[in-house]
Amino acid sequence: MTEKGLADVVAAQTRVSDIDGKLGKLWYVGYDIHDLAEYSTFEETVFLLHNSRLPTGEELEQYTERLVEERELEDFTKGLFPTFAEVSAPMSMLRTAVSAASAYDPDGWDHSAEGNERKALRLTSRIATMIATYHRIRSGEEPIPPDPKLPHAANFLAMLTGEEPDEEAARALDICLILHADHTMNASTFAARVVASTLSDMHSAITAAIAALKGPLHGGANERVMEMLLEIGEPEKAGEHVRKLLGGGERIMGFGHRVYKTEDPRATHLRRLSRELGELAGDTRWFEISERIEQAVMDEKGLYPNVDFYAASVYYYMGIPIDLFTTVFAASRVAGWTAHVREQLADNRLIRPESEYIGPRDQGYVPIEERR
Ligand code: COA
Repeated sequence: MTEKGLADVVAAQTRVSDIDGKLGKLWYVGYDIHDLAEYSTFEETVFLLHNSRLPTGEELEQYTERLVEERELEDFTKGLFPTFAEVSAPMSMLRTAVSAASAYDPDGWDHSAEGNERKALRLTSRIATMIATYHRIRSGEEPIPPDPKLPHAANFLAMLTGEEPDEEAARALDICLILHADHTMNASTFAARVVASTLSDMHSAITAAIAALKGPLHGGANERVMEMLLEIGEPEKAGEHVRKLLGGGERIMGFGHRVYKTEDPRATHLRRLSRELGELAGDTRWFEISERIEQAVMDEKGLYPNVDFYAASVYYYMGIPIDLFTTVFAASRVAGWTAHVREQLADNRLIRPESEYIGPRDQGYVPIEERR
């Protein structure tokens, strides 16, 4: 009999990332997330996850160029966005857009390791363009073409808002993308690996991952956090709100984690970014409410904030619409998903666990006319 939710079950061996939940540590390929958040960039982190080492200066330049070249959507995918803008919620749009993009991918039928590497890079680059294109069209505005001079995070914000972001916002988003890029065997990564293990294809695996990320127990929590902050409205009301929710048996979104039993190391950076962006905006209200909630949840339940909690106010300060928060998570995690798919395929065996049957046995079949 396994633990419910496969807790503590090791589902794969990986070289991509590792967590120590007791110590609150996260590493990508052995590099501490604190160092990556301080010194790395999203582009370099993508290289690290996919090549299992840091690039040289020249390699990073070439890799960045490849990512830049892959930003534009092909006409077929672009043509779907007016419909998405009209009828699809953001995560549903992204799930369908990634699935649809497989139709005209230049490597569509190439399942070789090289083809998969190119598809991984293409998807990692284009998801940001998909989100921005969707948002511009639904807002009644022209999509902004990618700016090859800007790094990935700054270009993402520019395509979304129509303005080149200031340095602080661009670096803050860059750090967010680094922090969310991978996280061992989380539900969406597991979903991606299961699909890959059937020797399906890269786009199918990433489509499945997006579908898993969408749920409020996984990536969807960040949007719920911001809705809660807005509902609370003032720092003084935070404690009471938390006690009321917990008293009613509700979960506080952005708290608790299957693996971390102490502070999630990503939350440490996001808390700081929330404060800094709040100070920069001259409005620290959302940061202050968050801090009060954190204190109240700790007092009442002894739970720590997870990655989604402070990410909410950080994205809000950047001017990212709330219903796009989970898609921003996807724009980063695609780096890890695609790395895991490639790793799975490099040494594949079909993922096919057992189940424990707990239903009735030896039932006699009763003809329909004799059933009551
Ligand atoms: N608010 C209130 N109580 C919480 C909680 C939260 N956010 N997260 C966990 N708990 C409580 C549960 O009620 C349970 O208490 P009980 O034993 O008294 O019933 C206990 O902590 C263990 O919770 P459980 O659901 O078994 O943990 P899990 O490992 O299955 O779930 C999460 C992990 C992340 C799904 C869970 O913490 C959660 O639902 N968090 C809110 C959603 C969220 O922020 N998701 C983003 C994750 S990065």
